[in-house]
Amino acid sequence: MESAHFTDITLDVDGRPRSLRIDNRVTLLDLLREHLGVTAPKKGCDHGQCGSCTVLLDGRRATSCLAFAVAHDGAQVVTAAGLGDTDALHPVAAAFLEHDGSAPAIVNAVYHATGVRVRDLPVMCDALLTA
Ligand code: FES
Repeated sequence: MESAHFTDITLDVDGRPRSLRIDNRVTLLDLLREHLGVTAPKKGCDHGQCGSCTVLLDGRRATSCLAFAVAHDGAQVVTAAGLGDTDALHPVAAAFLEHDGSAPAIVNAVYHATGVRVRDLPVMCDALLTA
């Protein structure tokens, strides 16, 4: 019979401290979506390829589907929902949330509409997209 191991962890998620006991095998993406109800990061490929699950993890872009939550106890996590002012979201962030868009779709739309490459977008957009 399989035995699960659990660990108590605390994360700052979009500026809000969150503490919970979590199975060590749970990814950061699943912790956010299934345990905390934070649905801004999306589960696309679940293999680190599409970028739909991108968050800022201690200030660095990370694909949350590839990160074990337990490995980031004490970390600061910022999702698309936590970026900027909730009353005045950046247009890209607003469109992402409103249309449940995937990162590759946004990359393509931004590039074709503006000619701006992903690496030239502000850090807020960078959190939503894959390079
Ligand atoms: S869900 Fe596709 S990179 Fe994480």
